[in-house]
Amino acid sequence: MKIRKAVFPAAGLGTRFLPATKSMPKEMLTLVDKPLIQYGVEEAVASGIESILIVTGRDKASIENHFDISFELEQVLRERGKTKILEEVRALSEIAKISYTRQKQALGLGHAIYQAKEFVGDEPFAVMLPDDVMDAKTPALGQLIKIYEKYDAPVIATMQIAGEAISRFGVIDAEEVEPNVFKIRDVVEKPKFEDAPSDMAVIGRYIFTPEIFAALENTKPGAGGEIQVADAIRELLEKGRPFYAAKLDGVRHDAGDKLGFLIATVEFALQREDLGADFREYLKNLKL
Ligand code: UTP
Repeated sequence: MKIRKAVFPAAGLGTRFLPATKSMPKEMLTLVDKPLIQYGVEEAVASGIESILIVTGRDKASIENHFDISFELEQVLRERGKTKILEEVRALSEIAKISYTRQKQALGLGHAIYQAKEFVGDEPFAVMLPDDVMDAKTPALGQLIKIYEKYDAPVIATMQIAGEAISRFGVIDAEEVEPNVFKIRDVVEKPKFEDAPSDMAVIGRYIFTPEIFAALENTKPGAGGEIQVADAIRELLEKGRPFYAAKLDGVRHDAGDKLGFLIATVEFALQREDLGADFREYLKNLKL
């Protein structure tokens, strides 16, 4: 079945990016001039997604405003003849069919995904974490959808993480079935370095079937007191449901982390036609 719907959990508290995220959604932090969530929405659309649900929380209204029409701004831009940026602003409000729901308490990623149960209905769907910004020639979600179509089973994105940093991720135990595609045996959320079953971390792109909702209903708070999606996946694995993981072609930036955000900013700025050359010159002259 075609993947038409994507869910963006965006209700987290963004504690790693305080104080910026005290009153501003982490998802609206900008890489150069675009909020993180816009990169994700553009990737979804480029991957064939038609309908998006953003799971928001308190103090997240600016996300909705960003994808809405802004009459006053558009009128001013029109009057000033700023046609190019006017088109860009206008296009944003028409980029996809976007709806919103609220996660009333930040009880974890699994709980945020559960809020999408009605929206998803009876079809497979994508989950995209907006602070994982993908820099890929072929849209990252599109690559994952291809694997889903081939194996007709849920699939999650993975990448290798060296050393102790693996403890910050969900980690899979898996067997390679073709280059860069793995059949998952087990998944653990934020294991201690010495307990991690491999160096393969789960990153923020998933294709699930609606079965995940029943599993989430049974999931008790796990690591960090949060309802963890890894625990729901594990329940399905124990029931013998197949799950795959895929290493994607491209670079993943953790823009919800201060250092990751700075790296992503530099990388994206260097790629910009309008800024890249000047910015490169500036960087070259830094006395490091
Ligand atoms: P993160 O763990 O990166 O986000 O969750 P966080 O909890 O906001 O950030 P820190 O760790 O405190 O800095 C990944 C994604 O899941 C969403 C977040 O908004 C983010 O996009 N999320 C997380 C929810 O929607 N609800 C939650 O309860 C937790």
